Amino acid sequence: MTEVCLEAARHVDGEITVPGDKSISHRALLLGAVASGRSFLGNLSPAADVASTASCLAACGAWLRLFDDGKWVLDGAGMGRTLRSPEADLDCGNSGTTMRLLSGLLAGHPLEAVLDGDASLRRRPMRRVAVPLELMGAVVEPSPAGTAPMRVRGRFPLRPVVYELPVASAQLKSAVLLAGLAAGGPTTVVEPAPSRDHTERLLRLCEVPVAVEGGRITVTPAPLQPFGLRVPGDLSSAAFLLGLAAARPGWRVRCPGVTLNPGRTGVLEVLRAMGAEVSVEPGPDAGGVEPVGDVEVRGARLRAVTIAGDLIPRLIDELPVLAVLATQAEGTTVIRDAAELRAKESDRIALVAAGLRALGAGCEEAPDGLAVTGPVRLRAAALDAHGDHRLAMAWAVAACLAGDGGVTTIRGAECVAVSYPRFFEDLGRVTGRG
Ligand code: S3P
Repeated sequence: MTEVCLEAARHVDGEITVPGDKSISHRALLLGAVASGRSFLGNLSPAADVASTASCLAACGAWLRLFDDGKWVLDGAGMGRTLRSPEADLDCGNSGTTMRLLSGLLAGHPLEAVLDGDASLRRRPMRRVAVPLELMGAVVEPSPAGTAPMRVRGRFPLRPVVYELPVASAQLKSAVLLAGLAAGGPTTVVEPAPSRDHTERLLRLCEVPVAVEGGRITVTPAPLQPFGLRVPGDLSSAAFLLGLAAARPGWRVRCPGVTLNPGRTGVLEVLRAMGAEVSVEPGPDAGGVEPVGDVEVRGARLRAVTIAGDLIPRLIDELPVLAVLATQAEGTTVIRDAAELRAKESDRIALVAAGLRALGAGCEEAPDGLAVTGPVRLRAAALDAHGDHRLAMAWAVAACLAGDGGVTTIRGAECVAVSYPRFFEDLGRVTGRG
């Protein structure tokens, strides 16, 4: 296990091109694998999670290659025809997106597969995916605890359904939409609140009709056309560096070419509401379907905010770093309606609260969120990432903000590779220590 030692940052300034977006990369691989022909992808995320999706697809007979110039080429034979039963259990690693989205895609192929993952993934809820896929006619069996390992016996075609999601989850929505590609008619998913819509946008790029009306998303099965896509930068990765810049007047970070999908930009709205200066320069849409732009954040004296309701699914992955930032804001920042945080790579409510307390911050835990009171002079601490990449990066941001001249240690920091392998190098560059 790697322990990283970090001192407080004296100054933060720089421009960082973050890696390709993880959510879009998973979907581009899954759709490219089953399109009818050859697709080309550039700037795919180097995240371990995305590598899990690629290797699971390959194990199911998909044709995909990474070339020396960093481009991916995929050659599909069409939905229901491309994938076959793998010889061994599929290892989704730490990736909930791999397990949930792949289940939807596999459910629409005549095959049998067991999807498994690491200890963290084996604790995460999978019954939520099994329920709609079984309604569609697949056999999907999670463990008795409703977790991985999960057996999927797919078929082609599936039954179309109208399915109301019990949680605002883009992963669950996407699993049903992907299975819907193999259905004998249109499938509708009803969302309780808007979540990232990368699957819907990439389906349109594949010329599959997707209609959105209020919270109802309907996919009408059609042959998927192959496509070309340069994946935009990952705003969820950028959020750690942008969030750090927000903490002090005079600090600045710029991240060019990141996704501006409205399902992802909640973090920018919150940084602005906290008082940071956030500028966004939109550029051309990636593939003509995904909004992209340059984002710059300049720091300020921050004020507390309430983060709740429909905003939550639009910044769910950014809540750990926002909680760290809340320790520097005047007043009590309240995060609620975020019970889903307990079902992520770790219980992010309990572990963020414990970590913030170790750093000397005032933090109250609620069943569905946190209350963090600031501003407080953080003290360096010995912290643990608990195998959760976003905790490791949030602790690194906290370490940069410590005010006691001490050294913060982060145990298990290597897990940043799950989403952002170059994180510590990029952090070093903006803090002048790279
Ligand atoms: C993701 C959706 C979110 C997010 C995860 C990636 C996606 O999960 O937390 O990191 O790519 O669809 P839920 O949709 O389950 O909330």
